Amino acid sequence: MKFFIDTANLDDIREAESLGILDGVTTNPSLMAKENISGEENVRDHYAKICQITDGDVSAEVISTDLEGMKREASELVKIADNIVVKIPMIREGVKALAWCTENGIRTNCTLVFSPGQAILAAKAGATYVSPFIGRIDDIGWEGMTLIADIAEIYAIQGFETQILAASIRSGKHIVEAAKAGADVVTCPLSSYDSLFKHPLTDIGLEKFLADHKKAQSVAAS
Ligand code: E4P
Repeated sequence: MKFFIDTANLDDIREAESLGILDGVTTNPSLMAKENISGEENVRDHYAKICQITDGDVSAEVISTDLEGMKREASELVKIADNIVVKIPMIREGVKALAWCTENGIRTNCTLVFSPGQAILAAKAGATYVSPFIGRIDDIGWEGMTLIADIAEIYAIQGFETQILAASIRSGKHIVEAAKAGADVVTCPLSSYDSLFKHPLTDIGLEKFLADHKKAQSVAAS
């Protein structure tokens, strides 16, 4: 399973990269706004900075909602770096744009996916990644992770090659559940990866190992 970080914050991306387990980055217009990045040129420059930190796939989202606008943005975004993946929303024009990108050798991430039917459309259009939003489904009181399992089952039966990118992942528990449900990729903030490290028995065990080592050393020295 690939690990992507879901942020436009350069420090967090550097920190995740330093762990040696980062496979890519996803952003969206809200995450760019959170970093106060606006204007086409500044956005492009920011993507270029992200692509300098990681060789992994970097999802860059289009703002247009019409086919011609999405085609124009996709063509511009892929010029930034070889590892740019164009993120396109699951709307009617978006599916057309996905199919156009596929025909033109542009890799894509279909975003804002909330149902198995939408995931089938994304795969039919040749999306490289499909992004079901787990946390946002949980937010409305439904069971988000069921969607990952459903898409994984359908893609396996149908032989679709689109990778399932579990998005809107908010915790370590979500990461583990997405892995079990068949996600190819998870994307989440650094804090969710941080939570995977934590187990009280690890801390207690390490403390004991180090204390025993110290004790043995002082016995040897006496
Ligand atoms: C990633 O591609 C999505 O934009 C992101 O995971 C959405 O997460 P959120 O629901 O926590 O905003």
